[in-house]
Amino acid sequence: MERTFVILKPNAVQRELVGEIIARFERRGIKIIAMKMIMIPREIAETHYREHRGKDFYVDLIDFITSGPSVLMVLESHDAVRIVRYMVGATDPADAHPGSIRGDFATSPGHNMIHASDSPEAAREEIDLFFKPEEIQEYTLAVRPWL
Ligand SMILES: Nc1ncnc2c1ncn2[C@@H]1O[C@H](COP(=O)(O)OP(=O)(O)O)[C@@H](O)[C@H]1O
Ligand SMILES: [Mg+2]
Repeated sequence: MERTFVILKPNAVQRELVGEIIARFERRGIKIIAMKMIMIPREIAETHYREHRGKDFYVDLIDFITSGPSVLMVLESHDAVRIVRYMVGATDPADAHPGSIRGDFATSPGHNMIHASDSPEAAREEIDLFFKPEEIQEYTLAVRPWL
């Protein structure tokens, strides 16, 4: 089993697409083991996106991700990182396949709806940055005990 970290960015909340996006993960057979809605503090956003510091879109990115409530999730499945990244689609929604979350709901890279960890190591770091251990639930699904 592998864990990954997802942010439904402020425009997902504003456009009332939170349920639609969560339903895709549930239908796929991916288990939600933590979830909360928060306003991401600026300092945490800057840590999360530190690899992009100095790029031309960096300030807009930090402004946007801190502009309203986001929904944060920890998801678990076999190959969670790769599966969720593929469901999310390319960074630029113009390159994201229809059927992916960005390919179905987004048009601009700055407002591409969702973040997902790009490696298991990044997932571990991001989960630690946004969640306390006691906010993560370890449980078995009665219908899908292998998850
Ligand atoms: N060229 C760009 N213009 C505007 N925003 C961008 C651009 N590239 C990346 N971003 C924003 O920064 C976030 C982080 O970038 P990156 O890690 O490269 O993409 P991803 O979210 O697909 O992992 C993206 O999700 C997007 O919101
Ligand atoms: Mg990234």
